Amino acid sequence: MLEARAAVRNLPTYHPPLAGRDGLRLDFNENTVGCSPQVLARLRQLTAEQIACYPERAPVEAVIAGHLDVDPKELLLTNGVDEAIHLLCETFLDPADEVLIVVPTFAMYDISAAATGARVIMVPAGKNFQFPTAALLSQITPRTRLIAVANPNNPTGSVAEPASLLEVARRAPQAALLVDEAYFEFYGKTLLRLWRSVSNLFVARTFSKAYGLAGLRIGVLAGQAQHIQLVSRIASLYNVNGVALACLPTALADNDYVRQYVDQVRQGRELLQQEFGRWGVQHWPSQANFVLANFGTSKTEFIQSMRARGILVRDRSGDFGCEGCVRITLGSTEQTDQLLRSLREALAEIGAHEVAAQ
Ligand SMILES: Cc1ncc(COP(=O)(O)O)c(C=O)c1O
Repeated sequence: MLEARAAVRNLPTYHPPLAGRDGLRLDFNENTVGCSPQVLARLRQLTAEQIACYPERAPVEAVIAGHLDVDPKELLLTNGVDEAIHLLCETFLDPADEVLIVVPTFAMYDISAAATGARVIMVPAGKNFQFPTAALLSQITPRTRLIAVANPNNPTGSVAEPASLLEVARRAPQAALLVDEAYFEFYGKTLLRLWRSVSNLFVARTFSKAYGLAGLRIGVLAGQAQHIQLVSRIASLYNVNGVALACLPTALADNDYVRQYVDQVRQGRELLQQEFGRWGVQHWPSQANFVLANFGTSKTEFIQSMRARGILVRDRSGDFGCEGCVRITLGSTEQTDQLLRSLREALAEIGAHEVAAQ
């Protein structure tokens, strides 16, 4: 058997539980009702010839640039944000460089950075998962080449204020700061275009979440034109498949679909947080399409009880500082009704009591 590089041998294995996902999928932060019907119609129009041709990224980059109000030279379409993270690591990291991430957070920053041989320094989030600005600043050294922050963060749903992120970028001018806005649509604040004054800033967006295109694999990395040009050097010319490229303009054009879905998710998020409050379940205010809650020693029983009711939720108890925690994705209004009904039953089953009724 061949031996992998030392950095690869030392990587932790990451196996998200993708098998056997029958039921209401509130476990992966996906769009739970699927993409716009107009996207499906576009898919059905694709011809054999279109599938036979190598995909052309540039025309669709012009469309997305218009949508984001940036110059086409300031962005690169990628095979999901996952690829954007990978490309940033490959562009900027040498072995023994340092990468800063705030934990708990999305697993791919650690994996892609560690695979280059760089040293990943994990900065624990503050109390109630607050963004630890001072602690992060204190870890910056001349070797810091990448800082990755999900905003809103996964799995906590918490956010960092723009001023804090910009301060971090300014204090580490030798490093790329990636602000991963995968959940932007559920939050509303962005750092897009601020690389024009803080040049080492990159912003990533995905179409896997609000747009419901996770299966097509398409995202975007944006930043200063010269920096995007550097990252593009190592990207495959055909990194984004032709089906995704054909569908993206249609998905962007159906604004109403995404807006209506996002509205329902935000209402559901409020209702779920209120319900947790009623039962005295510790949870953290979220700006994303999910809420993290702590079920303590009843965590496994709770997950099983929800599964028995046809609802999949995600065990996040293995994440830093998340012992006993479960992450629940929000979906449509009807799905939230179903979620709340099942949640009440499951909570009663694990012996919880409504705080108000005590
Ligand atoms: C913060 C964050 N970034 C990126 C991704 C992955 O995005 P994509 O599907 O575009 O690769 C996820 C998915 O869970 C995420 O939570």
